[in-house]
Amino acid sequence: TQTISIGLLGLGTVGSGVVHIIEQHQDKLKHQVGCNVEVKHILVNNLEKKRDVVLNGAKLTTNPDDVLNDPDLDVIIEVMGGVKGTKDYIVQALQNKKHVVTANKDLMAVHGSELLEVASENRCDLFYEASVAGGIPILRSLVEGLSSDRITKMMGILNGTTNYILTKMTQEGAAYNDVLKEAQELGYAEADPTADVEGIDAARKIAILGTLGFSMHLDLDDVSIAGISQVSKEDLEYSKQLGYTMKLIGIANRTGDKVEVSVQPALFPETHPLAAVNDEFNAVYVYGEAVGETMFYGPGAGKLPTATAVVSDLVEVMKNIRLGVTGNSAVLPQFEKKLKNDEE
Ligand code: NAP
Ligand code: HSE
Repeated sequence: TQTISIGLLGLGTVGSGVVHIIEQHQDKLKHQVGCNVEVKHILVNNLEKKRDVVLNGAKLTTNPDDVLNDPDLDVIIEVMGGVKGTKDYIVQALQNKKHVVTANKDLMAVHGSELLEVASENRCDLFYEASVAGGIPILRSLVEGLSSDRITKMMGILNGTTNYILTKMTQEGAAYNDVLKEAQELGYAEADPTADVEGIDAARKIAILGTLGFSMHLDLDDVSIAGISQVSKEDLEYSKQLGYTMKLIGIANRTGDKVEVSVQPALFPETHPLAAVNDEFNAVYVYGEAVGETMFYGPGAGKLPTATAVVSDLVEVMKNIRLGVTGNSAVLPQFEKKLKNDEE
């Protein structure tokens, strides 16, 4: 039986979840794609760090070339985060004809189109399902399940950390800083949680959703952004007394040929389905001209939900390798972008 060899960049919250799922679901993976999956090398920062994961023969290294230039590796999974150096690593991997799976929305929101081009030029797959809404398979739903429809609007809770903070502050009267610390300990927050609480992480995700859903290239700069760092316990108590729940919402709206994209805190009546999306959970509404309203719900952050999305991408890559159809993951913009506030 053929074995697919994997290199990992990063072994933190998501990386350790990936190693765990590959080990625990080996039979399922083999059944899905007809071969064994082995993690061979893992790039980390600190070789001395205590790791709460069974490595099963995988070797840790601090030298990126051990992963990126190893001719035996078929797929590189990037779960280290960061943009500049990480982009170079992914380009190097693709140029070395390695397929790439990433959970990195910071990178894909800014350099996604360019990286997809490099993947396509090298006949490699580049998948990034885990970059938006953790365990919810929303990207694949947009580009496959709803591919025949014309999407007009997407709206949802796209950041687990801020939803966790707002939930605990609203329901338990918890203090902002205490709950943020909890969200960090639970592995929901980014290494620097500023991106979470200032709405930038949700903005990256709505830019990715807009790009795929509307088939036009939306940048982070196209998103008007407000976060929750200025929201007080009193704001939330007052909203609750009036029968409303505050959520941080990403919205991408297409009216005619113009689009409008934003992230902002918004109040929902307690009877609205989004008001019942609590803790680190995410939910995304997608409206299509033909399908009408659809809603996707699930865990938006955390080790195993996110790793599920990463390993599912890996399964897609492995199926494509076996079928000889890799290199088709480039979803390139079809329509010219026209923002609502652009000059006529
Ligand atoms: P994390 O826990 O901070 O883990 C990062 C890992 O990468 C660590 O193992 C670290 O090594 C390694 N690393 C970082 N910079 C490195 C460098 N320059 N060279 C070598 N190794 C490096 O992060 P995470 O929460 O797993 O997130 C990883 C990625 O997934 C990010 O892009 C994040 O945005 C994305 N993501 C996270 C979640 C989530 O719920 N956490 C959900 C969706 C997407 P050491 O272990 O030695 O320090
Ligand atoms: N920090 C992110 C969040 C991780 O809280 O949603 C998942 O993308």
